Amino acid sequence: MKILAIETSCDETSAAVVKDGRKILSNIVSSQRDIHSLYGGVVPEIASREHLKLLDPVVKKALKESETTMEDIDALAVTQGPGLVGPLLVGLSYAKGLSYSKDLPLTPEHHIKSHIYANFLEEDKDEKKPEFPLLALVVSGGHSDIIYMKDHGNFEFLGRTIDDAAGEAFDKVSRALGLGYPGGPEIDKLARQGEDGAVEFPRAKLKDKDNGAFDFSFSGLKSAVLNYLNRCRMKNEPVSKEDVCLGFQKAVIDMLVTNTLNAAREKNVREILLAGGVSANSALRDEFKERASNMGIKVRYPSPALCTDNAAMVAAAAYQTYQQYQQDQQGEEFEKNFKKLDLNAVPNLSL
Ligand code: KG4
Ligand code: ZN
Repeated sequence: MKILAIETSCDETSAAVVKDGRKILSNIVSSQRDIHSLYGGVVPEIASREHLKLLDPVVKKALKESETTMEDIDALAVTQGPGLVGPLLVGLSYAKGLSYSKDLPLTPEHHIKSHIYANFLEEDKDEKKPEFPLLALVVSGGHSDIIYMKDHGNFEFLGRTIDDAAGEAFDKVSRALGLGYPGGPEIDKLARQGEDGAVEFPRAKLKDKDNGAFDFSFSGLKSAVLNYLNRCRMKNEPVSKEDVCLGFQKAVIDMLVTNTLNAAREKNVREILLAGGVSANSALRDEFKERASNMGIKVRYPSPALCTDNAAMVAAAAYQTYQQYQQDQQGEEFEKNFKKLDLNAVPNLSL
């Protein structure tokens, strides 16, 4: 089954062709990073206009690179939410147009589910697919969620952030340090040159009647970094950006790894899937592997390009949706569910 998928939830315009939910035939990502970096973050209206301009050529390139024509495509998929409403609508409208004109089924997919399913894409032929039950840690610009999955399509939230998302904290600290946007890759790079222990920041530990044991908080850490920078400025003391990056990054990673491994212990899972832009972080991957292997837990993560927003992961999620519905529904019912022209963008879509 060949799926053509479209992703436009934020500031990457992407289209991909994926075979059987596993084999990537093409995955084109056109980033608007340079435009938004002028403003220090994503400007939704500009993002919508860029998607309008870029999506059609990106889809055509995805078809060409996969050596596929629309006639070879069996089904379509598009991100429905969560995300920015304007950008989502551009992708959704385009996908509905294709579905109608080519008479192809279209499934709306959830962005977080897609990030998790990036781990099901084949990167190494000998690697087996992830096995349930498992935990997924989704860490992106908008999410920091620990999710328990008993099976395909079954999501139980065990922990989430009560304030900033992990990626958001990276982006805000990066801005305070005068580094670029997005902040994660810059901090990741500079932290490698930092001196261990030179600058330390506190970790938030939450466990009270309002917050679950596996919830996160990153805004206190962000404030601690801003206060440190202000203090240095007032005392005219020099700031080592490398040391600040390392101290900040270590605190984020410690919180993410500790809560996820505690949740893994409680649920007795043997696999953890990392997902979302922050899971591209090299130190996060290393620390997870090391601490999880002591507990006999396998940690997986997609290659860095598949951690950040891309359409191949949407196709991977959609394959599972089609598999499930093809088993449960036949003929007219399947047609009714997958040829809906009244699909709308849902900026706060829940899983
Ligand atoms: O998943 P994603 O591409 O978009 C959202 O759905 O939000 O994630 C983007 C986030 C940004 O906050 C970015 O700073 C962060 O992922 N990020 C990283 C790294 N690469 C991207 N954070 C830490 N280390 C990285 N190497
Ligand atoms: Zn994302």
